[in-house]
Amino acid sequence: MKIQENVPLAPLTTFGIGGPARWFVEAADETEVLEAVRWARERSLRLFVLGGGSNLLVADAGFDGLVLRVAIKGIEVVPGVNAWVYSVGAGEEWDGFVQRTVMDCCAGIECLAGIPGTVGGTPVQNVGAYGQEVAESIARVRVLDLETLGFREMEAAECGFTYRQSLFNSSAKGRYLVLRVDYRLRPGGAANLRYADLLRVFPAGSQPNLAEVAAAVRRIRQSKGMLLVEGDADCRSAGSFFKNPIVDESMLDEITARAGARPPIYPAAEGLVKLPAAWLIERAGFEKGFQLGRAGISSRHTLALVNLGGATAGEILALRDFIVERVGAQFRVSLTMEPVLLGF
Ligand code: EPU
Repeated sequence: MKIQENVPLAPLTTFGIGGPARWFVEAADETEVLEAVRWARERSLRLFVLGGGSNLLVADAGFDGLVLRVAIKGIEVVPGVNAWVYSVGAGEEWDGFVQRTVMDCCAGIECLAGIPGTVGGTPVQNVGAYGQEVAESIARVRVLDLETLGFREMEAAECGFTYRQSLFNSSAKGRYLVLRVDYRLRPGGAANLRYADLLRVFPAGSQPNLAEVAAAVRRIRQSKGMLLVEGDADCRSAGSFFKNPIVDESMLDEITARAGARPPIYPAAEGLVKLPAAWLIERAGFEKGFQLGRAGISSRHTLALVNLGGATAGEILALRDFIVERVGAQFRVSLTMEPVLLGF
């Protein structure tokens, strides 16, 4: 285990923003993870677990604790008749894993192609897109319990998955460190075609295979600047910067009255609907490509804030506050951030 000092974090994030980690270590297996955690404990240092850095905004001053990058690799497969279970190291790159399952003709995560980040981050925020969420396919998560320093496996039902949430980022935030995720997928299963963007590519009756669906998802993501492509300025972001708000019927009526139009809606829990934050932001007067200092709104998707080049975290947060304030004033909806903040 090699502990490094003053390691710049900006290059380890998709935003490309933020100062250094006072201490930094990469852990390639469970023993190294435990060793690193103990090292931080002995020095009373705060600990931050870094995955792919794709949903993260680091403070300009950096972080004065230990950043632990989980680099546990490996994909093991147990094939079965009705299900194949993939045990995947938290440090595996997510999109590479999706590609592998698609080539194996195992359905369940094909619509989650092209999402940047590592496997370990997926249960934390219950990653979802184009009609799928990881919660539907996760069997269990192996974690290190930072309270007891014991290893344990948590079944999916214990993880408390809801929209962009799990117990890992809510009630038990900071308690568990994800080491491995077991995905249960359907061999020979059909692709999930629920989302409007996909139904436009594959009309009713067409039966695309998983690889075709995953490729279509990548193309759609790229058109929105949501695929990491070298040289594409719109993807210097953390993906969606705000969560889509969930509101009840009376709130929906109020928003409709205030906007003079009905927003598109998606089903949520009973009596509630989810609506696009991007739609609200545009109706509050922001256009794609809007700029405030060196922070901006993506020119291809209103929900992504981008680093226009040399932006500070402070500039991103100033733009966030401006948007939140205007959407709040116009619609009485309080937008909440999706990316994780470090060092603030
Ligand atoms: N819209 C706009 N302007 C835009 C883009 C979208 O007004 O520039 C409105 C339109 O009404 C559109 C609706 O928003 O119909 C939905 O847009 P989109 O299909 O692009 O999805 P989203 O709600 O903006 C969510 C996820 C994405 C995920 C897509 C596709 C959240 C916070 N975001 O975005 O996830 O890829 O659906 O499933 O739930 C992420 O979390 O980082 C992320 C990229």
